[in-house]
Amino acid sequence: MIFNNKDYNIPKITIGCEALGGTDWGNKDIEVLSKVINEAFDCGYNCFDTADVYGLGESEKRIGNIFKNRKDKVFIITKFGIRWHQKNKSRRALTYKDLSVEYLRKALEGSLSRLQIDAIPLYLVHWPDTNYEIEPIIEEMIKQKEKGKILNFGLSNFSLSGITSNALSKIDAICNSYNMLDTKSNKHILDKGKKLNKSIFVYGTLAQGLLTGKFKNNNVFDMTDRRSRLEHFKKLNNKDLQDIINKISEIGMKINNTPAQVVHKWVMTKQVANSSILGISNLTQLKELLDVSNSSLEESFTKDLDYLSNKYVNNILS
Ligand SMILES: NC(=O)c1ccc[n+]([C@@H]2O[C@H](COP(=O)([O-])OP(=O)(O)OC[C@H]3O[C@@H](n4cnc5c(N)ncnc54)[C@H](OP(=O)(O)O)[C@@H]3O)[C@@H](O)[C@H]2O)c1
Repeated sequence: MIFNNKDYNIPKITIGCEALGGTDWGNKDIEVLSKVINEAFDCGYNCFDTADVYGLGESEKRIGNIFKNRKDKVFIITKFGIRWHQKNKSRRALTYKDLSVEYLRKALEGSLSRLQIDAIPLYLVHWPDTNYEIEPIIEEMIKQKEKGKILNFGLSNFSLSGITSNALSKIDAICNSYNMLDTKSNKHILDKGKKLNKSIFVYGTLAQGLLTGKFKNNNVFDMTDRRSRLEHFKKLNNKDLQDIINKISEIGMKINNTPAQVVHKWVMTKQVANSSILGISNLTQLKELLDVSNSSLEESFTKDLDYLSNKYVNNILS
């Protein structure tokens, strides 16, 4: 993938490191997640996605430690814009958006220090904040780029209507969610970004694992797992959703792929992004996905899934 005329060789799979923060994904084994990261790196996957707020700095700290002796060999994406306040360690921290320029400067220093690097390969504005215009942030990002503290920057979770064409022309990358259950909400910005040759990352590809079909209706998530709160996990009874999950499994059986492999291939076939950020919990999941990292899905299967995905999305929106 080309950023600023430099080829960073970003693979089609970026390893998502939110769970590495130790919060919001249930009871995850940090040792195992660290092994996943090391193994991915050894297999040539050099791109890792985190954010300052993941585990309230813990994800960045752990990535910094894992890569401290090979920092020039990794492409780390981190984000700023969500602040946190934790009064009591046993309770969820209070988080709130802050896209002020002052906070950007402070957050940037914090991320550089936790990651133990001199420059952030890709720095993203995590979420829009209606209290602030984005232009001053873009100008500050450009300044920080000139200072060498950021190599590239971009926007995450913005809609096309939320940014000016001037801002869009200045950014290097875009990151939004995209999957079979939500092909529409970010379509405009993803398409526009592609047209403008921005580097595009998508997350949520597996719909937090839902599309793999491994969750049943009676599945109960721990309160510390964000999936206990996510709307689409409450729709497991939905016939259109079940049709998608069943079709993924049926296609997988025909081509000897697991559901996660079919889902990754579908996203790659849609060509919406240069790289898909995947949350991977163990070495088996990692191997499965890396095995099909660069593969696409046969046209007839893609059409079948597109049909069911459109049906689900249109019914949800109507
Ligand atoms: N820019 C942003 O605002 C933003 C927002 C959210 C996430 N992200 C990034 O995206 C990353 C992934 O988060 P996501 O929400 O997009 O999740 P996701 O990748 O859609 O789903 C992750 C879940 O899928 C399951 N999974 C992964 N590989 C599997 C396999 N081979 N077979 C079966 N199940 C598999 C795992 O479930 P189990 O845990 O049950 O094993 C894992 O926790 C985060 O770590 C973060 O870096 C970015």
